[in-house]
Amino acid sequence: MQTQTFHITPSNIDQVQIDQAAALIKAGELVSFPTETVYGLGGNALSSASAEKIYAAKGRPSDNPLILHVANVDEVANYAAEVPDEVYALAKAFWPGPLTVVLKKKDIIPDESTGGLDTVAIRVPDHPIALALIQAAGCPLAAPSANLSGKPSPTTAEHVLEDLNGRIAGVIDGGPTYIGLESTVLDLAHGAPAILRHGGISAEQLKTHLPNLKTSNENAAHSPGTRYRHYSPNANVSLISDFASAELRTWLEEKQAVYIGPQELGNPHIQLSGAEAYAQNIFALLRQLDQRGVQHIAIESIDESGLGRAVMDRLRRAAGLS
Ligand code: TXA
Ligand code: MG
Repeated sequence: MQTQTFHITPSNIDQVQIDQAAALIKAGELVSFPTETVYGLGGNALSSASAEKIYAAKGRPSDNPLILHVANVDEVANYAAEVPDEVYALAKAFWPGPLTVVLKKKDIIPDESTGGLDTVAIRVPDHPIALALIQAAGCPLAAPSANLSGKPSPTTAEHVLEDLNGRIAGVIDGGPTYIGLESTVLDLAHGAPAILRHGGISAEQLKTHLPNLKTSNENAAHSPGTRYRHYSPNANVSLISDFASAELRTWLEEKQAVYIGPQELGNPHIQLSGAEAYAQNIFALLRQLDQRGVQHIAIESIDESGLGRAVMDRLRRAAGLS
């Protein structure tokens, strides 16, 4: 299969190309598109055949459910059997945006889209290309991150093509994504609200609306995604903290490690500081360093507040610590 690339500028949507990409989705094909978090691999969420294609293209186990992307909160009631009041309050605060809610599903959503679960995960992405594509396709888009299973989530169309060229009908290149890591997954289907995956909306932000929010992994049984191996690079990844610069320099030299973090240490190092910059760059850097055949990467830990929690969660997985 030849993968067609569409080039669209987010600030100047080319409706002709959006309609061409949407036509592929309507015909049952898959198109990758940018969201504010990472690139998604979109197919018609109401079609079991499209969902099966998504699993096949990614090499993903078919019991790991997909997120439905819709254009606005009013669509949620079409796909969720119960819509608790919290959903409308959360939508007002955070949608469009990187928050996914898990709700009891309606039968219109095929079991293939939800990995056989009786719940469905839904979000409204904050990206003009994603919203235009959903509207033109006329159906909710099931879209996992557009990487091969086990690879880091893609933050550019080049990353998508590295993994999926020839395996999908199209990709819309809309430039790099804004946040760089995935949405927060919030379970509203099993008692007290619980975070299943930390992401672009922080626990602190959610707590102002959900005082009884559970932030640990007590609901892990309801979170199939956490059962699977996540990306860890071929390189050995060390998470480091509280190292004095002089000691750190010696240690990095001994290990011949590439340093990623806020300190200015001389080569080889990649200077990054703050949760936002880590989030935007970390997946791309891991891909790049793997391609360069780097053997050892030392990443400086960051504070776990706000977006830092989601960043540290991804770094611990990359280091094989969780
Ligand atoms: O930011 C994002 O969420 C990106 C963009 C493309 O929207 N999508 C994404 O999808 O990260 P994916 O498939 O890579 O991750 C979806 C996560 C998985 O951990 C999955 O287990 C969880 O959401 N999930 C989906 N449906 C669920 C459900 N019904 N119950 C519990 N967890 C669910
Ligand atoms: Mg993913």
